[in-house]
Amino acid sequence: MSRRAFVAGNWKMNKGPLEADALAMELKRALIDASGVDVAVAPPFLSIPAVVARLSHGGIAVVGQDLHPEVSGAFTGAVSGEMLKQAGCSYVLVGHSERRSLFGDTDAVVARKLRAALRAGLKPILCVGETLAERDAGTAIAVVQAQLSAALGELDRDSMMTITIAYEPVWAIGTGRTASPDQAQEMHAQIRGWLSARFPREVPASVRIQYGGSVTASNASSLMSQPDIDGALVGGASLNAESFRAIVEAAASKPRLS
Ligand code: PGA
Repeated sequence: MSRRAFVAGNWKMNKGPLEADALAMELKRALIDASGVDVAVAPPFLSIPAVVARLSHGGIAVVGQDLHPEVSGAFTGAVSGEMLKQAGCSYVLVGHSERRSLFGDTDAVVARKLRAALRAGLKPILCVGETLAERDAGTAIAVVQAQLSAALGELDRDSMMTITIAYEPVWAIGTGRTASPDQAQEMHAQIRGWLSARFPREVPASVRIQYGGSVTASNASSLMSQPDIDGALVGGASLNAESFRAIVEAAASKPRLS
């Protein structure tokens, strides 16, 4: 079973509707020839309609950056998975480290959000990753496995087939300090091993594991050359059409592995 590379751009709290429209237009032009790779962008909520309108039929999917676990109700400031779906999103980030550290998303909240995404018919991109202190203490693998268990432990095979996992070491996000290809590969292999131990064979064979954390046009190829790295979740470098295009190209030229 081959896995198609998947590159997603996380715009975070950048690009209001007007700027998002302009960037989406540039991306559409820059990525016109991109083939063999799935591409998606995650604009801020408010900019989703402009980006969906610009990218519809363009082969670039739109991702929500977060969602509330409930469908609707008295949750001021929140957006549900159903609303994202209605607005044209097909994916949603769940458990990004900034949500975990700045907005208090615990493993339990992340698990509820992941189920809410599935309920809404969105494909979750589950973000996991250890802090620098955890890596230095030698607990990185255990931390990531605990995050996986909390979010995915109870899911059935069909739900698992819709999931993407993004391994994002917290110390590499927005710091310019990327995990080395070997460090990333080691964790990706651990994650795939975790999946293999719990789910039927087709799950570890098809679930894509993106690497995230200071991915740039210059380090993308060496990361993508690793057998268990199936793409990237890109923050800063996704705000520029040219650097994002170069990362997508690096992923497109990755040989498909099973
Ligand atoms: P970065 O962000 O590429 O700017 O490090 C990655 C992310 O947070 O998804």
